[in-house]
Amino acid sequence: MAVDPLIELREVNKHFGELHVLQDIDLTVGRGEVVVVIGPSGSGKSTLCRAINRLETIESGEIVLDGRPLPEEGKPLARLRADVGMVFQSFNLFAHKTVLQNVSLGQTKVRGRRKEDADRRSRELLDRVGVADQADKYPAQLSGGQQQRVAIARALAMEPKAMLFDEPTSALDPEMINEVLEVMKQLARDGMTMIVVTHEMGFARSAAGRVVFMADGRIVEDRVPDEFFTNPTSDRAKDFLSKILKH
Ligand SMILES: Nc1ncnc2c1ncn2[C@@H]1O[C@H](COP(=O)(O)OP(=O)(O)OP(=O)(O)O)[C@@H](O)[C@H]1O
Ligand SMILES: [Mg+2]
Repeated sequence: MAVDPLIELREVNKHFGELHVLQDIDLTVGRGEVVVVIGPSGSGKSTLCRAINRLETIESGEIVLDGRPLPEEGKPLARLRADVGMVFQSFNLFAHKTVLQNVSLGQTKVRGRRKEDADRRSRELLDRVGVADQADKYPAQLSGGQQQRVAIARALAMEPKAMLFDEPTSALDPEMINEVLEVMKQLARDGMTMIVVTHEMGFARSAAGRVVFMADGRIVEDRVPDEFFTNPTSDRAKDFLSKILKH
């Protein structure tokens, strides 16, 4: 398959003290591709995402976004963070700002949009993720699923080149998980480039083009979902799947 690479990691290494948390990571994500990252707790999934957004520095290797090495600081770094939208387990909305203000803020500050334009776009996006009627509320007045959809709208408002999701549904009550996954599936269908850390295997099977399995800071398998789930080759992946597919 010919890929048009958007995110490239080459021989990326990182330690936390003695712990070698990213070990020779090579990963290329093509434009429009959806990659699900799974693996045991502590295997480095969050660190991998954070490194792509430069929330963590790396010690060696290279990370390239859309043909350019990640910027180190200043305005280019702020633009990188806008170009690579990130959605976390905890929604990280500003508690003292309304939903609309949360979605508009980055657009005016980083993208330099006029407030009216930003608000118009924010309302469109809130509509797209199904929370248009919540625009004037504060985050605490929303359900977890609604807050997470606002967080997705906020990232999309920056017109990112790619979106990173780090366990976006792990903190949600079961009945709210699907409404967030549906928004993510739609985004995938619309052609967004996505890296998604999740334990939602249904999402991986239906929306991902590839599954990357990590263990102990390494990428152990990198396969299409069907092959990975029906025929994992490594013992680590077999063991992991037998545990999570039991629930
Ligand atoms: N800031 C930090 N300082 C020191 N150690 C850290 C730091 N952040 C993460 N670690 C350690 O690095 C390892 C990888 O952490 P990471 O959060 O990337 O794992 P993960 O795969 O996302 O796990 P989980 O599934 O529990 O979210 C863990 O052992 C963790 O304790
Ligand atoms: Mg994590």
